[in-house]
Amino acid sequence: MRTASFAGALGLLGLLAACGAATPSPPAPSAVDPLALVPVKDEDPSPSVVEFSLTAREAEKDLGGTKPSKVWTYNGTMPGPIVDANIGDELVVHFKNELPEPTLVHWHGVRLPAAMDGSPSVQAPVKTGETFEYRFRLKDAGLFWFHPHVRTAEQVERGLVGVIRVRGPAEPVVDDERVLVLDDVKLNEDGTFPTYIDDASKMLGREAETLLVNGTRNARVPVRPGALTRFRLLNAANGRFFNLKIAGVKLTVIGTDGGLVPEPYEVDSLLISPSERYDVLFVAPDVAGELALTTEPYERGHETGMNPARRVGTVVVGGEPVAERKAIPKTGRALAKLPIVSTAPIRFELDEGTTPEGELTFMLNGKSWPQVPAESAALNDVRVLELENKSEMDHPFHVHGTFFQVLATNGVPSPRLADKDTVIVPMMGRVTIAARFDEPGAWMVHCHINEHSEGGMMGEILVGGAVSRAHGTH
Ligand code: C2O
Ligand code: CU
Repeated sequence: MRTASFAGALGLLGLLAACGAATPSPPAPSAVDPLALVPVKDEDPSPSVVEFSLTAREAEKDLGGTKPSKVWTYNGTMPGPIVDANIGDELVVHFKNELPEPTLVHWHGVRLPAAMDGSPSVQAPVKTGETFEYRFRLKDAGLFWFHPHVRTAEQVERGLVGVIRVRGPAEPVVDDERVLVLDDVKLNEDGTFPTYIDDASKMLGREAETLLVNGTRNARVPVRPGALTRFRLLNAANGRFFNLKIAGVKLTVIGTDGGLVPEPYEVDSLLISPSERYDVLFVAPDVAGELALTTEPYERGHETGMNPARRVGTVVVGGEPVAERKAIPKTGRALAKLPIVSTAPIRFELDEGTTPEGELTFMLNGKSWPQVPAESAALNDVRVLELENKSEMDHPFHVHGTFFQVLATNGVPSPRLADKDTVIVPMMGRVTIAARFDEPGAWMVHCHINEHSEGGMMGEILVGGAVSRAHGTH
């Protein structure tokens, strides 16, 4: 009793001391933090313009092979840099391709003019030694990312991934925040990337046991005792689904692909398919210690027995405890349901099959890209998309250029409202979504298992009478 009240008094003193002090800004990850992403160098002094150089080039990185791996990078690191910006800022990107093959930079989840989307529907690939200037305004707050859209399975696997963090007016007040890029990488023993792609990799996307957090194996993620901690998660893997769990800690989801959600909700583990983002909060335990960061079993089809729980890393609780306990916010960002008008739905049937040559192929509406017939929408249409999965594995379906809201999965109305750009269409299942097409142009839709999109599960929605540069030109 006595000790308890003594501790209570101390706590109160601590609280008073904290109130008297100036409000500290969230501590920046230290210079030696191996999990810190490298910020881009802003070359424009204006606070509302972020202008930087982005060069795709080869570099070496130790990924656990007997020799360093030759990875492909943006600005020399894997994963690439982080772009920090505010809603409304203009991004000016001086891109240069120093890879031995053509590439494109696609700004995943960013709503922008189609000409800046970096997909083969709107832009010719940037050849070796060539440059391109991307320029667009950031309309939304959230965590977005960028990656190639040419030979995507190979180029993303080799390390070409970068992050854009856009802050908005309603950011939660937290003690610490971290961006965690989840990935896995399939390597030969000597650290080289396999040139032969085995059948399992074609079917499931390259999946490997080397799990990475911000490019680091066996990552140790430091958190402070009692700290309200924000993790901003991106799954940048080709095929692996992360079903993420921190031992003994419940996560509160406050946001996803398109920014904050209206109603935060609690989960024990969080399923994140390739290209999805989740924004989560948790209060770190009060006592120092180590918590296992794992991906829990999830059966996404065709991999029975290949998906045991795996260790991703460790959350290390230690250091200076926070002085004052912060609460997890109960409400998020107001979000209106998209008004459904009675136009006919756009239907996509997702399936796998074999070519006459006996090769595995992936299809939308019975055809493989680029033979998939383009769908169309009028400018500013809100359309329902019916996604029907005829195959025995899940497909994370991604739509360029807009956010959508999930209406129902397998006939069950979605329990929550959120702006998404990727949704898991479960095996042999069906998902309906609503999207507003408010930007003219040729927008790609595809499975974000990169081997599947490349294998043919990719199509287009032409908005406002746009013409695609890819469609029919192959
Ligand atoms: Cu991550 Cu076509 O996109
Ligand atoms: Cu797929």
